[in-house]
This record gives sequence, structure tokens and C-alpha cells, in this order.
Amino acid sequence: MTSHQSLPAFPDGFLWGVSTSAFQIEGALDEDGRGPSAWDAFVRQEGRIKDGSDASVTTDHYHRWPEDVALLRELGVGAYRFSVSWPRVLPSGAGRVNGPGLDFYDRLVDALCEAGVRPVPTLFHWDTPLALEERGGWLRRDTAQRFADYADTVAARLGDRVAHWITLNEPAELTLLGYGLGAHAPGERLLFDALPVAHHQLLGHGLAVRALRARGVRSIGIANSHGPVRPRTDSAADAEAADLYDTLTNRLFADPLLLGRYPDEELAALLPGPVDDDLKAISEPLDRYGVNYYQPTLIGAPEPRPAADAGPAADAGPAGGGFAGVELPAGLPFTLHELPGRERTGFGWAVAPEGLPETLHILRDRYGDRLPPVLITENGCAYPDRTRDARRIAFHDAHLRALHQGLTEGLDVRGYFVWSLLDNFEWAEGCAQRFGLVHVDYATSERTPKDSFHWLRRALREQRGEQ
Ligand code: NOJ
Repeated sequence: MTSHQSLPAFPDGFLWGVSTSAFQIEGALDEDGRGPSAWDAFVRQEGRIKDGSDASVTTDHYHRWPEDVALLRELGVGAYRFSVSWPRVLPSGAGRVNGPGLDFYDRLVDALCEAGVRPVPTLFHWDTPLALEERGGWLRRDTAQRFADYADTVAARLGDRVAHWITLNEPAELTLLGYGLGAHAPGERLLFDALPVAHHQLLGHGLAVRALRARGVRSIGIANSHGPVRPRTDSAADAEAADLYDTLTNRLFADPLLLGRYPDEELAALLPGPVDDDLKAISEPLDRYGVNYYQPTLIGAPEPRPAADAGPAADAGPAGGGFAGVELPAGLPFTLHELPGRERTGFGWAVAPEGLPETLHILRDRYGDRLPPVLITENGCAYPDRTRDARRIAFHDAHLRALHQGLTEGLDVRGYFVWSLLDNFEWAEGCAQRFGLVHVDYATSERTPKDSFHWLRRALREQRGEQ
């Protein structure tokens, strides 16, 4: 491994962590009374997962979690963000609690505390219980209340040892990819008719915040995806398209939480109204605001239909951020374009570290004092390198330097979590995109720390003033 310049010093108490999610790492889908999730059903449908892999084993974390806790301890992170699988705790989504499911997270939390790693559970990372999905999932208002009941059940068990909770992960991606475009479970292609899913998740978040607070929980946040949206040219048409895209992917999910209102009347009309009382729950104050940052998006106006022999614009796609690799239907009011002149990750995403502080400045400018201190709950990159992943080191090094610059400009950021500890099941991409600091051999489940793991370990020691 080549030597690296030390990172600038982050403030005392800055929380360093890594993130994972249940469906992406656990496997053991039929064990110990777990019920099926919408994703279990989705991966079984022909052609849904690009490399044909399923999530029945993935990293086998359900059996190998002690090894993973040992890796966290070795890495020296202060926190571990994982998700609790709703169908493991409540196999039908509501009603009967599955004791062994809760026991699993109880043991994990104990082991993390014992290892000196703060547990940061996310209550929902896309694995909706299938029984609820079959009744309409997040298109139904009732799912919000079911989610709050589930949050209460988990908090009752883990609340004494968990300092910080995250309610939802990326409600924008579940809405747009899962129900709008059909690239993720449940595979619905409802386009703008998917918008009730946004509202019901946000309502579920708000009701869960109230349930957690009633349990005495003190620190709560959410993990929203955010990234700068840049118009492709300075034409009015591109600016308008970019503005709409920004509203759909960023403001639609942050304004209700932080301002207590929806950003756009036309979109609000598509929500299941009236929503005024719901917005009171949705905007319950938060202690931290989680930002998952990957890359900026370049947006243009819809293009006139190309002549039969003309292809799409030379810089068209691949779609950015959460839309990477997703085929967009014709007729949308915007087009996605490649950020020019950028290195790309193995996934084809642009490497754009300046977009991280830029995103945080955009949030601060829009929300001012209503924006709680931020945690970067995800940032990471997929590369195929087995363990010599110099490009991943360069990626995190650059993003952390950009973030540090943002701190010196007055941004209030309290932590940074790498996506991900392990290579894992990358949703519609299957196991082909590897985001881990630790390589996983999917045939044997063997874990091998990559160079980036050793780099981060050393960087964290330096941050603590150790050699
Ligand atoms: C965001 C999601 O929260 C996570 O599940 C996913 O693996 C990463 N982005 C990378 O796409």
C-alpha cells in the first residue's frame, strides 16, 4: 500500500462509522421465524436482478456477525449503522412479535457496546414485510401506523443501549425507484402516482419519532439521499427541468421534515390530502439530519424525439445517484446526463467530492436553523478491485478533505459513515457492485479487509492521536 498524507484533524467527538443494511448483508431469509419481505418476492421475479444473484446468503452476516463486530473493533470506528429487519421482528408486519428476531439485534447491540462501537440502528431500509406490501405497502396510509408500532416494539427492547436512532433510509429512492419506476421492489411503475408513498413514509417517520420519544429515546434522525442538481446548460428550459428534479428528489423529502410543508403545489395536489395534521407529525424536531451523498446530477429539459436514425444525446445517462442504471421511460419532464470530465467509479457514478460540502451548503441555505446537526450517514463507491483498492482510498480521502473544508466554512457536521463495511447485495445490481472496505468471497463468505480498510484504520488512529 502506498503511503498517504494524513487527513486534517476533525473536531473532538466527530463520529466515525460504517453503514450496512439488513437485506443487503444478513441472508438467512427463512431462519428463526423471519417473515418474507417485498424484496424476497422481487428477487425471485425473472430478470429483476442484473447478475441473477439472490439475497439468500449474501455476506451471511446473520451467522457471521461476531466476525463482523470483530472487524468493526479492529477498524476502530466509533459507530456502526445497521438496519433492523422489520419482517424478522414482525413476520407479518404487525401483530405477533418474533422473539428470536428481536434476540438477534439484542445480541448484536450487546456485542457492539462491548466492543466500544456505538450502535446506530436504522428502523427501515426498504425491506417492507410482504404481508403489508400485498395490501398496498406504502401506497396505504395504514402502513405508516404499522411502522410506528414496529418502531415502538424495537425501541422497547433496544432503547436502553442505543443512543441514536434512524427512522427511514432514503424514502426518495423507495418512492421513485420502487413505486415510480419499478427498478426496485415492489416493482411498480406508477410514475407520479407513486407520490403517496413519499407522504406515507414521511408520516410513518413522524409517528415513529413520537413513539420513540414516548419511550424516552433522546436522539433521532433520518437518512435522506441528497446531492446537488445542476442544469445541463444555462437555458431556461434546462433550469426549469433541473428545478423540478431537485424538488422531486431533494426538497419533497426534506421540506416537510424541516419546514413542515411540501415544496410545490402541483406535486402536493398528487398527495393523499388533506395533509396539514400529518405535517405536524412529520416535522417533529430531529436531533440529527442524516445525509447519504454519492454524486451530483446533471439535468436537462426533455428532448424532442430523435429522428429515427439519430441516437440519444451524446452525454445521455447513465442516470445518476439512485437512478444509476435505471432505464427511464420516455415522456418524463427531464433528462439525465453525464457530468463531463469526471473519473467514474466501477458503477459509472461520477467522482465529485466538491458535491458533498456543496450539498450541505444548499441544505443550510434552504433550512437555516431548522437544519439539525448533520451526520453523513452514507458515502462510498463501488469498484471491482479485490483488495488493492487504491481508487476507494482516493475517493474517501478526497471526500473527507472536501468535508473538512466545509467544516472550516461553518457547516455543522458531526459524523461520517462509509458505505459500506462489507461488499454486499447491491439491490437490482445483485452482488456485482462491491462497495465494501472488506472483500467478501460469495462462495465461501470469507472476509478479507481491503487496502481501504487498513487506510481508514490508520487514519482513525491518527485522528485519535495514536500512532
Ligand atoms: C444508498 C442505499 O441506502 C444503500 O442501500 C445502497 O447500497 C447504496 N446507496 C449504494 O447504492
